[in-house]
Amino acid sequence: MDRRRRCLLLMVAAALLASTMPSPGDATLSPDYYASSCPNLESIVRYEVSRKINLTVVTIPATLRLFFHDCLVGGCDASVLIASPNNDAEKDASDNMSLAGDGFDTINRVKTAVENACPGVVSCADIMALATRDVVYLASGPYWRVELGRLDGLVSRASNVKGKLPGEHMHVKELAAMFQKHNLSLADLVALSGAHTVGFAHCTRFTSRLYGYSSSTLTDPTYNPDYADQLKEACPRNVPPTIAVNMDPVSPITFDNLYYANLVNGLGLFTSDQVLYNDLATQEIVKRFANSQKAFFDAFVDAMIRLGRLGVKTENQGEIRKVCTAFNH
Ligand code: HEM
Ligand SMILES: *[C@@H]1O[C@H](CO)[C@@H](O)[C@H](O)[C@H]1NC(C)=O
Ligand SMILES: *[C@@H]1O[C@H](CO)[C@@H](O)[C@H](O)[C@H]1NC(C)=O
Ligand SMILES: *[C@@H]1O[C@H](CO)[C@@H](O)[C@H](O)[C@H]1NC(C)=O
Repeated sequence: MDRRRRCLLLMVAAALLASTMPSPGDATLSPDYYASSCPNLESIVRYEVSRKINLTVVTIPATLRLFFHDCLVGGCDASVLIASPNNDAEKDASDNMSLAGDGFDTINRVKTAVENACPGVVSCADIMALATRDVVYLASGPYWRVELGRLDGLVSRASNVKGKLPGEHMHVKELAAMFQKHNLSLADLVALSGAHTVGFAHCTRFTSRLYGYSSSTLTDPTYNPDYADQLKEACPRNVPPTIAVNMDPVSPITFDNLYYANLVNGLGLFTSDQVLYNDLATQEIVKRFANSQKAFFDAFVDAMIRLGRLGVKTENQGEIRKVCTAFNH
C-alpha cells in the first residue's frame, strides 16, 4: 500500500473514532443523575405534566416545541424560559416562535413541585427534557429514558436566535443544512419533523401556499386539492393572525405516524413538511415512517436523545435556577 493511501485510511479511521467519541458535554449526562439527590423526580414530573394536560391538551405540543427551540438556540439550557423586563431575551426574538404560553406554564408548575421535594437540586433544562418525554409518552408516543445532568444557561438573548430556527417555507436543502450544523442527519430531520403530528399552526404561516403560490398559480399544487379547500375555508384571505388549525388534520392530539401518511397524500401543512415527501432526498424515509410506526418511534427517540445533548452546560457554564424564568443573580 502506498503512503498516500495508508495516510488516507488512517484519516478515515480517525474520523470514525472521533464520530463515536462523546463530546465534552455528554460525559456527565446520565438517566440516574438525580437517583440519590431527588429519587422521586420522574414521578413528580409525570404527575404534574399529566395534571396540566388534563387542564389543557395544548400542553402537549407547546412543551414539545419549547424544548426543540431551546436546544437549537445555544443548547438545551432552558435559556428560552428567561423572561426579560426589556423584552430582549431569547423568547422575545422577532423570529418569534409564537411559542404557546402553556409550554412555559408546564415547566413552571413542574419546577415548583420539584423544588418542594428537592430544593435547589434539579435544573430547569432537565425538567424540560423530562416534561417533553412525558408529553410525548402521554400522547400515546414512545417512551425513552432521559439523560440528565444539564445545568441552566447564563445567557438568553433575542439576538442569538436569528438564523438558528427552521422556517416553514424552507426546502430540504436549507433544512438539512440547519440540522447538519448540530450533527443531525436527513433521517433525524424527517423523524423530528414528525413532532408536527400534534399541535396547531396559525393560518398566517401558510396562507401564501393557498393564495400566493406564484404569479400564475394561486395554490401550491403539492397540496391535496380537497385539503387546500378545507384550509381556505378555515383560513380565508386576510384571516386574523390569531386563527390556527391542527397541523395533523387526521389525528391532531395523538403522537402517531399519520403525519407521514399525510405527507404521502399531500396533507403537509407547511412547505417544510410537504417537501420531505416531494424531495427524493428524503422521500424513502417518509415512506418508511409512514409504513411503520415502530421505525418512526425508534428514529424519533434516537434523534430526541441526540437533540437533548446539544450545547449542554456543565460546571461554571451554568447554574441550577431557583425559578425557571430568571437567572439566580
Ligand atoms: C423541520 C423544521 C421545522 C419547521 C420549519 C417548524 C415550524 C413550525 C411552525 C411555523 C409552527 C407553527 C407555529 C405557530 O403558528 O404557532 C410549528 C409548530 C410546532 N412545531 Fe415545528 N417546525 C419544525 C420542526 C419541529 C421539530 C423538530 C419539533 C419538535 C421536535 C417541532 C415541534 C412543533 C410542535 C409540537 C408545534 C405545535 C406547537 C403548538 O401547537 O403550540 N417542530 N413548527
Ligand atoms: C459534530 O461531530 C463532529 C465530529 O464528531 C464534532 O467535531 C462536532 O463538534 C459535532 N458538532 C456538533 C454541533 O455537535
Ligand atoms: C388525568 O386524566 C387521566 C384520565 O382521566 C387520569 O387517568 C389521570 O390520573 C389524570 N392525571 C392527574 C394527575 O390527575
Ligand atoms: C412576535 O412578533 C410579532 C411581529 O414581529 C409581534 O407582533 C408579536 O407580538 C410577537 N409575539 C410575541 C409572543 O413575542
